[in-house]
Amino acid sequence: MRFSVVQILEDDLIAPIIKKVAYGLATTCILGGAVYAGYRVAAPAQQQTRHYRQPELNDQIETVLDSLKIADDQLVHIMHLLEAEMNAGLSPSTHDQAVVKMFPTYVKNIPTGTEVGQVLALDLGGTNFRVLLIDLRGNSRIELTSKIFLIPQSIMMGDGKQLFRHLSECLHEFMLKEHILNTDVCYPIGFTFSFPCSQEGLASARLTSWTKGFSCSGVVNEDVVKLFQNAINEKGINAKCVALINDTVGTLMACAYKDPATAVGLILGTGTNACYIEQLDKVGTWKGDYDEPKQVIINMEWGAFGDNHRLDFIRTRYDEEVDLSSTNPGRQIFEKMISGLYMGEIVRLIILDLLQRELLFLGHRDTYGDYKTPLYNRGGFYTKFVSTVETDEGIKFSNTRRVLEDIGIQNPTFDDCAIVQHICRQVSKRAAKLAAAGLSVLINRIGRPNVTVGVDGSLYRYHPRFKTNMERCMDMLVNKSIQFKIALSDDGSGKGAALVACLAEGTSWKKPAAHHEETVN
Ligand code: GLC
Repeated sequence: MRFSVVQILEDDLIAPIIKKVAYGLATTCILGGAVYAGYRVAAPAQQQTRHYRQPELNDQIETVLDSLKIADDQLVHIMHLLEAEMNAGLSPSTHDQAVVKMFPTYVKNIPTGTEVGQVLALDLGGTNFRVLLIDLRGNSRIELTSKIFLIPQSIMMGDGKQLFRHLSECLHEFMLKEHILNTDVCYPIGFTFSFPCSQEGLASARLTSWTKGFSCSGVVNEDVVKLFQNAINEKGINAKCVALINDTVGTLMACAYKDPATAVGLILGTGTNACYIEQLDKVGTWKGDYDEPKQVIINMEWGAFGDNHRLDFIRTRYDEEVDLSSTNPGRQIFEKMISGLYMGEIVRLIILDLLQRELLFLGHRDTYGDYKTPLYNRGGFYTKFVSTVETDEGIKFSNTRRVLEDIGIQNPTFDDCAIVQHICRQVSKRAAKLAAAGLSVLINRIGRPNVTVGVDGSLYRYHPRFKTNMERCMDMLVNKSIQFKIALSDDGSGKGAALVACLAEGTSWKKPAAHHEETVN
């Protein structure tokens, strides 16, 4: 297939462009002659040679990008594969070998909005560690005060004991500032720990592997709650970790607090994962009680889908490269095709490939060898750039130009911008389709007439068309008898953890919290 500039731009952009062109035409007719005369005199020689793309080059670009396309029948196949992996994860006889682990979370009750209490919530899942003091006021009102601490790379990849010591030092600093340290109250903590954990209770969670660039030693196979509580006790802090939850669970809980139809929690951020409410009779691995409600939230850890090569038929050489240079090669294959930690890198590798095949940045041959520019360095194209590039509408490409200049391409041509935007769109659309296929499996499986999906994460929040792309695809894949809604969940990792801690403790204190948020280094 061949594309011209107009074909690169999506259909929905063409109408406004035509309008703009019509307005522009009148002005251009009047000013055109004068501008042309001035241009011929003033423009430097190199700008006068406008590059016209060869049709066969377009074909080659399309061939490269075709490898990212996923056809509808492939999506349906992916849904079947995922459902089979889910059943393997839920069954005691296949759980150990299963890649999609489907961990029961021991969270059975969904909040009602009447919860009352003052609890601490901690949130660790990326380079930030957040500490929150949360007041649940009982009428769906939540007040909080919080502080964000950065986790240095050396701690993310260092000794596990050091990690938990660091977390308890942050907690100590926060409680001191809030005047709740060394009081006679032992504050319950809800800990959002967004890594795969096999749980034996709300406050017992064994880390099965690190993801998202963490690799602290001495934590895998250990009970994270115990390690953390030891560090808290060592520092003499008056707090007790009563629940550990995944960020997907927090997201579901925070959304359910406002919308009782919520049955799925989704994270599209640095990593990706989903949880949902499952009936106990479908959870063969369940070791808890069978009291009402006969349901439990399952933390799927769907990022690991494909770790047994089942998704190889849609993987590209760029996915393989991203995987090989990651901290966990061969792991989190689905996550690496979707989430924010990897999306920018996929785009960077495609750009580099097109550049090396002499299909892109043709006016920049003399700068090809400048290996110091971000374009040549792993992680040099941030995922937020994908969002920025896709925010450009029309043919000015002002954001795209800025991004390209940031990665070391000065004065990109119109073609360069259009092609880079096309690459970003294909990569993010593929991610949205994969997430949509996963969500559709869950919604169809839950089978309720109305299902709300609570979503959070930077990719979802800041990408201009992820939601629309995902919804369009889900309209095709979700059973027609089901109405689904995708709702942005408000701070699930904080509020959700507080709700679970509160439900676990059934506790209620009086001291209200103030409001503010700040970051320290
Ligand atoms: C990774 C983690 C998972 C988490 C997700 C989103 O996939 O393994 O536990 O929910 O990232 O943060």
